[in-house]
Amino acid sequence: MAAPRSLFCWCLLSVGLSQRVKVRNEVTGYVGEEAVLQCLFPPAGPEVKVNQVTWMKDTGDKKQNLAVYVPNHEPHFPVATGGRLRFLNASLQDATLVIHPLRVSDEGTYICEFATYPHGNEDGITTLRILARPTNMAEARKVQAGNAAVPVAVCTSANGKPPANITWRSSLPGNASASEVTNGDGTVTVTSHFNMVPMAAADQQQITCVVTQRTLPEPENLPVTLAVLYPPEVTIDGYDDNWYLSRNEATLRCVAKGNPPPTNYSWSTPSGPLPSTVHVQNDQLVVQSVDVAVNTTFICQVSNSVGTTRVEQIVLVRAGPNMAGAGTTGGIIGGIIAAIVAVAVVATGVLIFRQQQKNRTEQDDDLDGPPAYKPPPPQKKTEEPELDSHPPVAENIPLKASYFEPSLAGDPPEPDLPRYHELPTLEDKEPAAATGPSPEDEYLDQINPIYDALSVASGEHAQEQGFIMSPALYV
Ligand SMILES: *[C@@H]1O[C@H](CO)[C@@H](O)[C@H](O)[C@H]1NC(C)=O
Ligand SMILES: *[C@@H]1O[C@H](CO)[C@@H](O)[C@H](O)[C@H]1NC(C)=O
Repeated sequence: MAAPRSLFCWCLLSVGLSQRVKVRNEVTGYVGEEAVLQCLFPPAGPEVKVNQVTWMKDTGDKKQNLAVYVPNHEPHFPVATGGRLRFLNASLQDATLVIHPLRVSDEGTYICEFATYPHGNEDGITTLRILARPTNMAEARKVQAGNAAVPVAVCTSANGKPPANITWRSSLPGNASASEVTNGDGTVTVTSHFNMVPMAAADQQQITCVVTQRTLPEPENLPVTLAVLYPPEVTIDGYDDNWYLSRNEATLRCVAKGNPPPTNYSWSTPSGPLPSTVHVQNDQLVVQSVDVAVNTTFICQVSNSVGTTRVEQIVLVRAGPNMAGAGTTGGIIGGIIAAIVAVAVVATGVLIFRQQQKNRTEQDDDLDGPPAYKPPPPQKKTEEPELDSHPPVAENIPLKASYFEPSLAGDPPEPDLPRYHELPTLEDKEPAAATGPSPEDEYLDQINPIYDALSVASGEHAQEQGFIMSPALYV
C-alpha cells in the first residue's frame, strides 16, 4: 500500500465514519510516566463484523504498525519498543493502548484502526504530546569586584519539554544571557547567566531567577544571594577632636567590612611603630592617658584575601579640653534627646487626652477635683517600680492613665511648678534637686516632666494642653 494513497483513504474514512471510533483528540503524557490512548468501537449491530484492531503511528511519510490484535492470537507488536506497549483490554470493541514508560520520541500522531466487514477500515486519530518537568536550580557565582560585566549568577532548568523560559528579577542593573542544549532523550536544558559589573555593593544582594514552563503550575522563583569578593572598606571611628594632655581613655576603632570578612587589623604611625603609651586590641587602639606621643597620625591597615586597605586618622593633642567642639557636640546630642522627649510627650499627651475624654463621658464624678500636677517621686517609685525599666513611651499609656486617675480624685494639687521646666536638665546637666538625689532619682526626675505634662493634659484644663506642651517643644 503506497503511503500517499493510504493517507488519502484514511482522510475519507475519518470524515465519513469518525464518530464510530471513539478516541481522544489529544493526550498529554510525562516522560517516564504512562500514557493511555483510548480507542473504543461500540458494537454496531450484527451486520457489522470486526476482524482486526491495529494501532499505527504516522511518521510523516508513512504509517508504521505498532500493535495488532486478532482474535485467538497474542497481541502483536511489530516494532521493537522495549516492551513499553500493551493493550489495556484487547478485544474487538476496545483497542485502548498503554505506553509506559513514556519517552520524548513517543510524541506524535497515532491512528487506531478497526478492520470491519462490510464497511472496511474505520479509524480514530490521537495526538500524543510528551512533556517533561524540568529540574530548576539557581546559584551565585563567587566573583571578585571589578569593572567588567561577568556572570554573577547562573540558573538552570534541566531536562524540560518544552524548553523552559528563564527571566531574572533584580534591582541591580544587569543582563541575562541564555543557552539551550537538547539532551539525548529529547528534553532540553536551558541555562541563563545573569551578567553585571560586580560592585562591592552588590555583595549579599538578592536577585531572583524565574522559571516558566508548561508543566509548572506557576512560575518557579529561585532566589540567589550574590557573592562579590571585595577588599576591606575601612573607616576609623572614635576621634572626637578633643584629645588633650592627660585625658583618660581615648579610643580609636578601625571599622572594616569586606568579603571575605577582614580579621586582621594592624595599627601604625607614619614613622612606624606605635607610641608606647598606646594599647592595641585588634581593631581598637586605646590610649590610657593622652600625652604628646600620640600627637600624630594613626594608620589602620586591614587585609582580607582580596586586598589590603589603609586609612589614616590625624590626631591633634591639645593643651586642654576642646570646649567649643565638646559644647557643640553636647548641644546637638542634647537637642536630639530633647526633641525625642518632646515628641514623646506630645504623642503621649494626645493619647491620654483622648483616653480621658472617653473616661469623662463614662465617669463624670471622678473628675471633679483639680488636676494633680505631680505626685512626689519617692511615692511614684514605690507604687510603680516598673518605671525603672520602662521609659515613658506611648505603649505605657494604659498604665499611666490608671495610675493618675485615683490621684485626680483624692490628692490635693501639688504646689510645685510643673516639672516640665526641668526638661533642659537633660542637656544642661544641672542637678535636678539640691538634696543630692541618687542616680535612680535623677532618672525619675528626668522622666517626670512627661508625667507632669500628662497629668495636666489629662485634667479638666484640657484646652491648655497646647500651651503647656509648647515649652517642651522649644527645648
Ligand atoms: C546589556 O546588553 C546590552 C546589549 O547587549 C549592552 O549594551 C549593555 O551594556 C549590557 N548591560 C550590562 C549591564 O551588561
Ligand atoms: C600637636 O601637634 C600640632 C602640630 O602638628 C601642634 O600644633 C600642637 O601644639 C601639638 N600639641 C602638643 C600638645 O604638643
